[in-house]
Amino acid sequence: MRTLIVYVSIHHRNTEKITKAMAEVLGADLVKPWKTEPNELLKYDLIGFGSGIYWWRHHWGLFKLVESLPRMDGKKAFIFSTAGMNIRWYNHRKLKKALRKKGFKVVGEFSCRGWDTNGWLAKIGGLNKGHPNDRDVAEARRFAERLKAKVLNPHAPKSR
Ligand SMILES: Cc1cc2nc3c(=O)[nH]c(=O)nc-3n(C[C@H](O)[C@H](O)[C@H](O)COP(=O)(O)O)c2cc1C
Repeated sequence: MRTLIVYVSIHHRNTEKITKAMAEVLGADLVKPWKTEPNELLKYDLIGFGSGIYWWRHHWGLFKLVESLPRMDGKKAFIFSTAGMNIRWYNHRKLKKALRKKGFKVVGEFSCRGWDTNGWLAKIGGLNKGHPNDRDVAEARRFAERLKAKVLNPHAPKSR
């Protein structure tokens, strides 16, 4: 299974931490959205899209890439993020919609808290200092393991 993870991590490299953990489990290639192009993405069976959450959505670079893509009907994708306020359904909703509009099948989502010193938060040392921590990284690994099993064997009964 060829896997690519497209990610952006600009604030404290919070998302990069979990990206690398997932990439290790999935044997994934890593790329920034502005360093790839549509034909490159077609070579992969599974594509992850992740970044920090900036103003309640993923990084604009991911949207720009997704918008430039041709139809991707049935191509499997997953979404992940780190955020000051880890409200997954809300933070992921716009990217999920953009991916589905292109025909991607979103097969998994992961998110965790990330150290946030945006604006006035810097004055109080930020929110979620120390995150993603070891536990978050372990969660990201478990997510990637479940995802791998699911994509490789979609008809297997769910493990408890
Ligand atoms: C400009 C800016 C805007 C942000 N907006 C939000 C936001 O709307 N919601 C939120 O939960 N966190 C927000 N954050 C916090 C980041 O999502 C969080 O720190 C994330 O872990 C950053 O990931 P990164 O280090 O990979 O860039 C913002 C941070 C920055 C710098």
